[in-house]
Amino acid sequence: MIRHILSASLLIAACCSGAIAQSHPPHAVPGELEVDPYIASDANAGAAPIEDPAVFAAFGGEAGIARVVDGLLERVQQDERIEGIFRASDWPRLRRTLIEQFCYLLGGPCHYTGRDMASVHRDHGITTREFNALVENLQDAMDAEGIPFAMQNRLLARLAPMHRDVVTR
Ligand code: HEM
Repeated sequence: MIRHILSASLLIAACCSGAIAQSHPPHAVPGELEVDPYIASDANAGAAPIEDPAVFAAFGGEAGIARVVDGLLERVQQDERIEGIFRASDWPRLRRTLIEQFCYLLGGPCHYTGRDMASVHRDHGITTREFNALVENLQDAMDAEGIPFAMQNRLLARLAPMHRDVVTR
């Protein structure tokens, strides 16, 4: 009960139009590969790292974080409220970048190489209910790993403000 109040309080295309007239944008050289424009940076992780080393230790370091992410992804795949949103996702990439992101945010010796939260989620039309469903799965995954409740909340407090970049409707 307390946990749900806490999570609730914590979690408070342009496609195709007109682009057909030209076969290449003016700056592109025909035949050249298009390069993904984002630059890997910890700034894309969405928050600053927790500086208290006790938190990273409580998660069991990188190996413990990887187990939490695996538990989260297993639950997401079985959660009919949200699994459809992830059907077209690149799961190995998702796993890798989530481990990097959590490890970085928890103060571990990791760097985040993924995209920023707004760019990644923009086209998925995610709702607050779906956001909360994912957080519930994360809480269950952390419980299953025996992460103390206070430590879980340290991570959730870093993730909660990302609501504004992840939820678009
Ligand atoms: C604070 C909450 C969240 C965090 C920290 C987060 C983090 C991430 C990260 C790190 C990636 C991979 C980035 C990359 O590929 O460069 C990602 C991708 C993705 N996330 Fe989230 N996410 C959050 C919430 C959600 C929610 C609520 C949903 C849907 C219910 C969601 C759906 C997705 C999907 C579908 C992808 C794959 C995107 C693609 O490849 O097009 N995320 N997320």
